[in-house]
Amino acid sequence: MGLYDDVAKILIPEDVLQARVRSLAEEINHLYRDDDFPLLVCILKGAFVFLADLTRHLNFRHEVDFMVISSYGSGTVSSGVVRILLDLERNIEGRHVLVVEDIIDTGRTMDYIIRNLRTRHPNSLRICTLLSKPSRREIDVPLDFVGFEIPDEFVVGYGLDFAEAYRNLPFIGVLKPEVVR
Ligand code: IMP
Ligand code: MG
Repeated sequence: MGLYDDVAKILIPEDVLQARVRSLAEEINHLYRDDDFPLLVCILKGAFVFLADLTRHLNFRHEVDFMVISSYGSGTVSSGVVRILLDLERNIEGRHVLVVEDIIDTGRTMDYIIRNLRTRHPNSLRICTLLSKPSRREIDVPLDFVGFEIPDEFVVGYGLDFAEAYRNLPFIGVLKPEVVR
């Protein structure tokens, strides 16, 4: 009758998730050097778990900063409205920036973030997302690193929520229909 009973199925088990985060980090390790001192921009709240695991596998000097973006209400359908609720502490002009996101669905949120960050003239701007739902895309966004492409299902866990809950599940799962309804 707890958290785990609300899960209908596990889409990506914890060990598979952890192995992929490690291999993504290895790819990213090839791209930056200590002198680049890139800024990892974590999109809150969803990406906090992913960032926490990713950053510990990176072997170059880097800084982390956070942005809170609101794009969804408390349900599973996009409100279509994207807003910055909390902006970066750092000025990114001339910096190498790597955006770390949990999931790209329609692409609207990331499109907004990219267009916004570009106006601040970073030296480079790359995007890393743990999950992507290509079949849902409405706006094409350039993704540099994608952990997993997943089907059109609403997923929770590893930072992703339904109505702010389930972020602490260590895997990516799908909820039972009666829970989401
Ligand atoms: P987009 O703007 O449609 O690409 O939506 C991106 C945002 O919607 C993500 O940052 C998530 O916060 C949220 N989102 C999209 N799909 C899911 C999902 O399956 N589970 C949980 N959150 C999701
Ligand atoms: Mg998000």
